[in-house]
Amino acid sequence: MTFDFESLPDRRGTGSLKWDKYAGRDVIPMWVADMDFRSPPCVIEALASRVGHGVFGYTEPHAEVTGATVAWLRDRHGVDAQADWLVWFPGLVPALNVVCRAFGTSGDEVLALTPVYPPFLTAPGFSDRLSVTVPLALDGDRWEVDVARLEAAMTPRTRVLIFCNPHNPVGRVFTESEVRAVMELCRARGVVFCSDEIHADLVLGPMAPTGGSDAEGRASGHDMRHVSAAAIGEASHAIVLMAPSKTFNTPGLSCAFALIPDPSVRMAVRRAARGLITEVNAMGYVACAAAFREGEPWRRALIDVLRGNRDALYRFVAEKMPTIRLRPMEATYLAWLDCRDLGVDDPAGLFEKAGVGLSDGRHFGPGGEGFVRLNFGCPRSRLMEALRRMEAALA
Ligand SMILES: Cc1ncc(COP(=O)(O)O)c(C=O)c1O
Repeated sequence: MTFDFESLPDRRGTGSLKWDKYAGRDVIPMWVADMDFRSPPCVIEALASRVGHGVFGYTEPHAEVTGATVAWLRDRHGVDAQADWLVWFPGLVPALNVVCRAFGTSGDEVLALTPVYPPFLTAPGFSDRLSVTVPLALDGDRWEVDVARLEAAMTPRTRVLIFCNPHNPVGRVFTESEVRAVMELCRARGVVFCSDEIHADLVLGPMAPTGGSDAEGRASGHDMRHVSAAAIGEASHAIVLMAPSKTFNTPGLSCAFALIPDPSVRMAVRRAARGLITEVNAMGYVACAAAFREGEPWRRALIDVLRGNRDALYRFVAEKMPTIRLRPMEATYLAWLDCRDLGVDDPAGLFEKAGVGLSDGRHFGPGGEGFVRLNFGCPRSRLMEALRRMEAALA
């Protein structure tokens, strides 16, 4: 079956956060992380059928959605989860916030590795916790976790580490040994390890020049499968956050989940969510079940499209905008562009004036200054138009 990743859906007038930011202006929005693709046909059909039923009462995570989720976790991620490990949320941002308030007390510390998705940095403060950041280390062109530095940043008040794998915005898929090392450190220090894996199904594999890769992201001689923290032996103290929303482009349907094997950790999270997080959107469950049950062929086709976009982006930057540095990225549709050699104070502002709306790296914490994040989850023609505008801005 072929899927349409070339049409340009007109999202104006739908209340789109991404598009309305630039309403009435000739700016291509390439910032917030949703894609300019229609969701898989199986999701659209399941939603239409549910709409036809016509009654939209409070809805529980029923067997259809939990069954599809447990099967997806088993088949795609090798995670042997039980349905009662799942705690449902209307999004992973609420989940991050609940996790911050579930452990410790006012003034305790929550660690994150920067640059990182901005809610990792704001969530601790919303619960009167302190956000403590440790920079990711650059080893040549590869972003890595400096475990010694992470350990040095832990204090008796450190309660939680929020970890992002695959990492937004640097695009690393951390290896099993990297994840293990961080989990072991957390276990030894009594720190809750919370792994945000919302991008787990968007592994693209290595860059084209270093060898091709198949639709699983496995490249020649290089297995780039995402290894979930929930599949690792020490998982019992971990919280893993996942959702179908990035992969199947359904973030507006507000449906995400935490996978929490340990009953006491799970209870702490449920208690912190009491009264704040109520039932998840009925349509979100429908989309989640359909995506996990039937969406795999579409996901594989999407990965091919995103991989092609990523490789085209790298070629364009190398040939036409060589003062911008793009390090190898392995997952997500978010590219982290190092603009520090451009000699401009505000690269996001420069490109916005030229008609391309990017995310400003300064919002991603220490280390983000001088970077912009570009969302290439869109038809290739739109990506190339944006890149031509950026090239013109630099000329
Ligand atoms: C790492 C990460 N976590 C969470 C989210 C947002 O999750 P949600 O829309 O479920 O709140 C994003 C969105 O870009 C993300 O990149």
